[in-house]
Amino acid sequence: MISVAIIGSGNVAHHLIKVISKSKNLEITQVFARNKDRLKGLIDPQKITSNLAQIKPADVVIICVTDGSVVAVSKEIAFNNQLVVHTAGSLNLDVLDSKNRKGVFYPLQTFSKDKEVDFSKVPLCIEAENEKDLQLLEVFAHELSSSVYKIDSQQRKALHVSAVFVSNFVNHLYTIGNAICQEHQIPFEILHPLIQETAQKIMHLSPVQAQTGPAIRHDDTITQMHEAFLLEENQKNIYKLLTQSIQDHVKKL
Ligand SMILES: NC(=O)c1ccc[n+]([C@@H]2O[C@H](COP(=O)([O-])OP(=O)(O)OC[C@H]3O[C@@H](n4cnc5c(N)ncnc54)[C@H](OP(=O)(O)O)[C@@H]3O)[C@@H](O)[C@H]2O)c1
Repeated sequence: MISVAIIGSGNVAHHLIKVISKSKNLEITQVFARNKDRLKGLIDPQKITSNLAQIKPADVVIICVTDGSVVAVSKEIAFNNQLVVHTAGSLNLDVLDSKNRKGVFYPLQTFSKDKEVDFSKVPLCIEAENEKDLQLLEVFAHELSSSVYKIDSQQRKALHVSAVFVSNFVNHLYTIGNAICQEHQIPFEILHPLIQETAQKIMHLSPVQAQTGPAIRHDDTITQMHEAFLLEENQKNIYKLLTQSIQDHVKKL
């Protein structure tokens, strides 16, 4: 049995508490939440503390707080020489306080409290200071997902930047598409099949092979017409920049 303590009560903590609670080989011993109400109904209230100093040693201690608070929280932990990991994409392993053994447990997925995620398919990126801890993290991660990768801090940063492009930025482009539809009284749902097909296509083709549209065809009259159609400055600039980026990328091939 691997004992786990969780520090945090946000999106990632919610999903971790749910999935770890289902595993027969893992046990959540304690959870720290500044506001205990945030974990209502998720876990036995007796396991929740709002005093970080009361968190006791466990085989794996997971800090899942906002990136800006990871350093301070790791310093505030009262015990030492335990495996303490953070869940951030862009923070180095060594930002954690040196009184404990350092590790990273980065789940490469977008988590919101109210949206279910099939955790068994979430890629889990692990890193640790020493081989023994890495092995423990590997066993722990395999209890939760079939997709486990040993990724160092530099690779994880690159992965996070890549993830921002393929997820956060793409989602913002949905937001722009939605706004344009709304302005013209078109239901956004009409674009759902296109969104789905675009995402599914790159499971079979490389992103470059899958690229279509006026930019790659160099249909310059159409791209100019689209630029003129867009009145909002950011939308116009994003359209121009992405069009240029698609065309420049093809030139380099
Ligand atoms: N969400 C994702 O999709 C995702 C995916 C992969 C990795 N991550 C990483 O996972 C970590 C947590 O992200 P999240 O999305 O779960 O964040 P979140 O939903 O914003 O939750 C952040 C948590 O941090 C707590 N917190 C903030 N400052 C604190 C402090 N000084 N002391 C103690 N607790 C503090 C908050 O407490 P209060 O509720 O009291 O404010 C909250 O419980 C981050 O490092 C993030 O980069 C997130």
